Amino acid sequence: MNFSKRISYIAITAALGGLLFGFDTAVISGVITFVKSNFKLDTTLEGWLVSSGLLGCIIGVIITGILSDKIGRKKTLVISGFMFFISGIGCAFAPSFSMLVLARIIGGVGVGMASMISPMYIAEFAPADKRGRLIAYYQLAITIGILLAYFSNALVLSLSQNATGSGSLNLLLADPWRGMLLILCVPSVIFLLMLINMPESPRWLIAVNKKQEAIKILYQIRSKEKAEQELQDIEFAKKKSGNKSISVLKSSIRIPLLIGIVLAVLQQFSGINAIIYYGPSIFQSAGINSSNALLFQVILGAINLVFTFIAIAYADKYGRKLLLKVGLTGIVVSLIICGFLFYTNDTQGILLLILMLVYIACFAFSVGPVTWIIINEIFPTEVRAKGVAICTFALWVAVWLVGQFFPWLLERMGAAATFWTFAAFSLVNLVFSLTVVKETKGKTLEEMNEIFIAPH
Ligand code: BGC
Repeated sequence: MNFSKRISYIAITAALGGLLFGFDTAVISGVITFVKSNFKLDTTLEGWLVSSGLLGCIIGVIITGILSDKIGRKKTLVISGFMFFISGIGCAFAPSFSMLVLARIIGGVGVGMASMISPMYIAEFAPADKRGRLIAYYQLAITIGILLAYFSNALVLSLSQNATGSGSLNLLLADPWRGMLLILCVPSVIFLLMLINMPESPRWLIAVNKKQEAIKILYQIRSKEKAEQELQDIEFAKKKSGNKSISVLKSSIRIPLLIGIVLAVLQQFSGINAIIYYGPSIFQSAGINSSNALLFQVILGAINLVFTFIAIAYADKYGRKLLLKVGLTGIVVSLIICGFLFYTNDTQGILLLILMLVYIACFAFSVGPVTWIIINEIFPTEVRAKGVAICTFALWVAVWLVGQFFPWLLERMGAAATFWTFAAFSLVNLVFSLTVVKETKGKTLEEMNEIFIAPH
């Protein structure tokens, strides 16, 4: 395998963690109705079914922040893969609602772990001039996972409607939600198999004084000169930091921490998950019939996937900030106009559909991938795992907050005010990106120190 093929294999395998993340978070939208009637859930328990996954995510991020420094990046990826697998089996054969919730928490731990370790692992491997593109593959994988979940839910549902056989397959098809959740095992097994051939991150190896192993791996992924140069840079950065671990709370880490946390939270406050998951019901309430609403969800998912390619093509060429500027401007404008359509009750026409598509396209090439790119490249190796964990933790808390408050906002304040609230947060994100975020394209992870870290 030549260098670029090897790097692509590494990035694609790690990005599969993103696919599992997307799949696991999207699959639940098709499962809820069935689980609800199966276990006769009231609205509190229904809420618990969704938030139990998020609770798992938050636990997963905390575990990964500690584990990935202690046992290494690769083993942490493997553990996340197992979490998905166990969750798939556990959900499918759950004898009671409590067991189902437990299995969902385990899956959530997998999502939380993957959402942190996959992009970080890619960042540590990527050549500086391709890092943006390679981390954007991770975002692409999330969007593929979301779309796959819609299709596999639809497939299991149609199989279950035509099922006539007996035995355990029938059990899975009699309760379609069991089959829907079991499918998670397929990508997790592929992920685990692909991980077998994956090397450990050379940056982590050097951090834990395993230089010889790191050299061996660097020679597999870079030409001799580039490998030597990179080794020198990593070691130099390590010496400069005084060989002792530095704290994330140190003043010099505060700027990257501020940038990472604000971008993570504002990514979610753009309302992305509300629009992906509640978009169809917003549409229904605007008078569009339910089968079109479902088709609309698939169209949204497909646009989300396709437009990620813009980030893949341009994150390294034109930089992260330009993508943020253009994308966030599109997001703010489309959300404001959407709000006006609801305000003036003019929601029947094609314009609302077009605006939502513009919104999702803009998210897909900017805030979606760029947030993950920046979070994973701005911290020095000694604190990367902890820094990334704090930002990813903030992101999941923000996901939870939107999930809790969006239905309330919609009911109490109406759709117009809800869209304008998301627009206001995205405007703050635009101003923040223009003024505080620093351009990181083409810089090595070691050079980030100079951009972000104020002298001690
Ligand atoms: C976000 C997810 C979102 C997804 C949609 C990711 O960047 O972190 O919350 O569901 O994009 O594509």
